Amino acid sequence: MKIGILISGRGSNMTAIVEAVQSGLIPESEVAVVISDKTSAEGLIKAKERGIETLIVCKNGRTREEHDAEIIGELKMRGVELVCLAGYMRLLSKDFVRAFPNKIINIHPSLLPAFKGLNAQRQAIEYGVKLSGCTVHFVDEALDHGAIIAQKTVTVKDEDTPESLAVRILEHEHPLYVEAVRRIAAGEIEIVGRRVVSVKN
Ligand code: GRF
Repeated sequence: MKIGILISGRGSNMTAIVEAVQSGLIPESEVAVVISDKTSAEGLIKAKERGIETLIVCKNGRTREEHDAEIIGELKMRGVELVCLAGYMRLLSKDFVRAFPNKIINIHPSLLPAFKGLNAQRQAIEYGVKLSGCTVHFVDEALDHGAIIAQKTVTVKDEDTPESLAVRILEHEHPLYVEAVRRIAAGEIEIVGRRVVSVKN
């Protein structure tokens, strides 16, 4: 399975996926390209160090659709079959979602559908929930809304700040994301309505 990963920053989830592919944890797969919309994304260096092709595709005053069209072209040109959003800080256009139906996944640092959008860890603390966590989900045309593939809970402590909670959630993001990609690559899951279920053999 050819994987394309979109980042905007640190790229720790991207690195986890690349390393899982390279170590054989995600078999018969290849990370074909890592694309960033930010020239300064630290993840670009991490991807290059691991021998992965990187591309920078900035928006540069274009419309979302024009920007996405360039990214779609780069992904299609490389035969990408699964697009992983990993800290990619832009909403995808409908065109993008329709170009890769049920082939785009994302990781979000809360238990969706709670705390969509930016600063999910801060939202969780301010709301006062005792449990938060992370969610891997398919991407559809609405924000943080597509069918849920996997979730992991993390306890919110009284003394937590958004930063300390983010650190603990992130530790769980990496294995959760890797396992979700592995299951997709292995053909172990399918989408039934809004539900992601194990394929029965
Ligand atoms: C993660 O917390 C992820 O859940 C969210 O953005 C952050 C990206 O971190 N979507 P990294 O770039 O993967 O280190």
